[in-house]
Amino acid sequence: QIVIHEDANATAQGIAARLITSIADAIAARGVAHVVVTGGSLGIATLVAVAQNPANIAVNWSAVHFWWGDERFVAADSADRNAVQAEPLFAALDSLGLERANVHMTGDSDSYASAEDAAAAYTQLLAEEASDGAANPVFDVLMLGMGPDSHVASLFPNHTRSDELGAIAVHDSPKPPPHRVSLTMSTINTAREVWLLVSGAEKAPALAAAQHEVNELAVPASAVQGTEATRWLIDRSAATLL
Ligand code: 6PG
Repeated sequence: QIVIHEDANATAQGIAARLITSIADAIAARGVAHVVVTGGSLGIATLVAVAQNPANIAVNWSAVHFWWGDERFVAADSADRNAVQAEPLFAALDSLGLERANVHMTGDSDSYASAEDAAAAYTQLLAEEASDGAANPVFDVLMLGMGPDSHVASLFPNHTRSDELGAIAVHDSPKPPPHRVSLTMSTINTAREVWLLVSGAEKAPALAAAQHEVNELAVPASAVQGTEATRWLIDRSAATLL
């Protein structure tokens, strides 16, 4: 599915509305919702829109688990961390019942000696929160930004890849900072729904390439696929080459 909104702000608002409804549906069906959030400008704008949307009172936030698709392996209080950028938004949901123990962070360089250690800890955390001894929870919605090079999470073209379930350390990232922790593509593709959040004209070629053919190594975004749905939630300027 491709949904084209007028601009980045409309895209963020549309995704937020969709997310609130999807979380309420997941809780109604299974009593819990596992949601993977993303950094990047559109990912953070989406969280702002969720925090500000009056319909957010319709969700029982105490039943929601938040995960990150990737995180930068830097100091815990670094402005580069997705978690730091998202903190005010999680704070806004605190008053609506969000349990901080359910906001699952990938490791930072204050807590772990290496990105490998942080990735191993995140992999273990995923397994602990999964039911029936599975490798990770079944994510209801997994959101991803996409870079102009078609990277998703911290899976860059012709760079790190792994078929394992869980998280991996990424070094020499083409986009700074160099050290990161990322879910693997195999893990991303266990989600019921994967949503790709894309805005801006500079993303148009990568978006077109991702629709063209599946090539995980050259075009990571092309390999993303939810088990129930894969939704491209994009703006008009990103859609010009479709
Ligand atoms: C990173 C970024 C990156 C981002 C995409 C989309 O880890 O370096 O967070 O992965 O999510 O590049 O970002 P925008 O929405 O800002 O274009």
